[in-house]
Amino acid sequence: MIKGFVFDLDGVITDTARFHYQAWAKIAQDDMGITINPSVNEQLKGVSRMDSLNVILKFGHRENDFTQEQKEALATKKNDYYVELISNMTPADILPGMKNFLDELRAENYGMSLASASKNAPRILKGLKLTEYFDKIVDPASLHHGKPDPEIFAKGAELLKIKPNEAVGLEDAFAGIQSINGAGEFSVGIGDPKILNEADLNFNSTAEVSLAKIKAAYAAKHK
Ligand code: BG6
Ligand code: MG
Repeated sequence: MIKGFVFDLDGVITDTARFHYQAWAKIAQDDMGITINPSVNEQLKGVSRMDSLNVILKFGHRENDFTQEQKEALATKKNDYYVELISNMTPADILPGMKNFLDELRAENYGMSLASASKNAPRILKGLKLTEYFDKIVDPASLHHGKPDPEIFAKGAELLKIKPNEAVGLEDAFAGIQSINGAGEFSVGIGDPKILNEADLNFNSTAEVSLAKIKAAYAAKHK
C-alpha cells in the first residue's frame, strides 16, 4: 500500500533550473572566464552546489586553476546571486497541476517529504507557500552521497516512518529516478520518457500527474 510521497523540488514542484543557470552563467563568465551553455546546464540538474562548480570548471578546462578556498568563495557568490533571483518567487511559480496534486494527497492523508539537493529548498517552499504541505524535508547537508545514490530518497521515506516499498518518489532527472529505484521505492518520472526510461511510471509534464494513475501502476507492480 502507498503510504507516502517523496518529492524532488526543482523541475517537479517549481522550475528553479533557469535561475541556477542564470546565476552560474554570470559567475562562470565574470569570475572564471567560462561561457556555459544549456547543455552544461542539463548536467547541473540535481547536482550539489560544489559539484556543479566542478562540472563548470571541467567544462572550461580550468579544474586545477582554483584553490579550495577560492572555490568556496565562487560557490558562495553564485548562491548569493541565486538567492536574489529566487527571492520574488510566489505561488504563481508552482508548476501546472502540482498544487491540485498536493491538495489531493493531503486530503487522502498521505505523508509528504522533500528530497531536494538544494540547501535553499525551505526558502523556496516558503515563497511558493507550500511549507505546511511537507511533513519532513531531507537536509542535504546531512547526506554522504548525492543523486543517483539512493541515500536522499531512502531518507525521505525514513523521515515519514514508512518502508521504501510504501513510498512513491517523484523526479524529473534521470539520476533522481536511479536514486528512487535504488532506494526500493516506486518511481514516477516527470518529463521525456526516453530520458526517464527507468521510471516505473512516466508523465510528460506536471500537468499530467494523476494520483489515480499512480495508484493503478503501483498496484500493478505489487500484485
Ligand atoms: C538541485 C538543483 O535541486 O539543487 C541543482 O537541481 C543545484 O542545480 C542543487 O545545484 C543545489 O542547490 P543549492 O540551492 O543548495 O545551491
Ligand atoms: Mg529536479
